[in-house]
Amino acid sequence: MAKILVTGGTGYIGSHTVVELQNSGHEVVIIDNLSNSNIEVLNGIEKISGIRPAFENIDCVDYVSMDKMFEKHQNIKAIIHFAASKAVGESVQKPLAYYRNNLVSLINLLQLMPIHHIENIVFSSSCTVYGQPDQLPVTENAPIKPALSPYGNTKQIGEEIIRDTIHANPNHYQSIILRYFNPIGAHPTAEIGELPNGIPNNLLPFVTQTAIGLRKQLQVFGNNYNTPDGSAVRDYIHVVDLAKAHVLAVERMLMNKTKNTVEIFNLGTGRGLSVLEIINTFEKVTGVKVPYRIVDRREGDIEKVWAEPGYANSELGWVAHETVEETLRSAWAWELKLAEKGKHE
Ligand code: UD1
Repeated sequence: MAKILVTGGTGYIGSHTVVELQNSGHEVVIIDNLSNSNIEVLNGIEKISGIRPAFENIDCVDYVSMDKMFEKHQNIKAIIHFAASKAVGESVQKPLAYYRNNLVSLINLLQLMPIHHIENIVFSSSCTVYGQPDQLPVTENAPIKPALSPYGNTKQIGEEIIRDTIHANPNHYQSIILRYFNPIGAHPTAEIGELPNGIPNNLLPFVTQTAIGLRKQLQVFGNNYNTPDGSAVRDYIHVVDLAKAHVLAVERMLMNKTKNTVEIFNLGTGRGLSVLEIINTFEKVTGVKVPYRIVDRREGDIEKVWAEPGYANSELGWVAHETVEETLRSAWAWELKLAEKGKHE
C-alpha cells in the first residue's frame, strides 16, 4: 500500500485508474486542472470505491504550485502522469499549446521528483509512436516512425525526455512507459466513463452519441484501406483492463521488480478490429442502429495497427480480459447513463 499521485486523475483513463488503485488498497492524490474533465468525476469514483480521493486543482505546467502540492502531500511513492492534451487535429492547429502543456508538465514533474524524494513515474504514451508499423502485431522493439502530428511528437519527445533524464541520474529515478492502443468502454457500474467535450474526435464516443441520436450520422473515414473490409483497423482495449496495468506497473517499481530503470510495455489486446466491425458488433450487442456513411480517409490516419502484448503479459503479469462485446456494452451503458442524468442538454 502506498500513496500515489495521479495527474489527470479526473480524466477518462485517469479516473478508471484511480478506482483500480483504490481497489488495490493504495491511497490516491489527484491533481487535475479540469481543462478536459469535470469535478463531478470525483463523485463517480467515490460511489464505486467508497473513498473520495484527495484532489488539487493544479496545472502541472505551474512549477510553483506543483512544488507546494508536494510539500502538502508528503510521502508520495509514485506518480502516474496522465495529464496531457490529446486531440490530434487540435495539436496541428495549436502546436505550441501542445508542446508547452505536454512537455513542460513532464519536465516539471521530473525536476520535482528528486527534490521530494520520489523515484517512480509511469508515463502515458501511445502506439502512435510506431506510426504505420512495418510488421504486425507491433512489438516494443519496433522502430519509432516520424510523428504525424504535434500531439504524437509530444509522446515521442516525452519518452526521450524520460530516457535522457534517467540516463543522467540512474540512481534517482525509474520509469515505466506504457504505450496505449485504443482505450474504449466505461466502468461496469457506469459511474465513470469518457466525457468528450463538444464533437468527439474518437470513434467510440461518436458511435454512442450517434446511436443515442445526438449526432445524425457517423462518418467512416475510408473504405479503401488494405484491410479485409477496407476500413481502418485498430486494437481496441477496455479502459478498465488498461487501468489495471497501471496498478501493476506502480507495484512493479515499488517492489523493485523492474529489469531496467526505463521499461516500455504495449497495452493492447493483440486483436485488430476494423471500424465497420466495431459498428456491426455495437449494433449486435445493443440492438441499436448506428447510421453511417463512408467518407474520405482522415488526414494523418494510419491503415492498421494492433499490439503484440506478449511482453506485458509475461513481464508485467497483465492480460486484457474483456471481450469487445462487453466493452461496447459498457460504452453504451455509460451513454445511456449520461442521457438519464441530463448531460446531453
Ligand atoms: C488517435 C491517435 C492516437 C491518440 C488517440 C487519442 C493517430 C494516428 N492516432 O487514435 O495517437 O492516442 O487518437 O485521442 O493520430 N474513425 C471514424 N470515424 C470517426 C472517428 C474515427 O471512422 O468519426 C476511425 C478512424 O479513422 C480510425 C478509428 O476510427 O480508423 C479510430 O479512431 P480514433 O478513435 O480517433 O483513434 P485513433 O485515430 O486510432
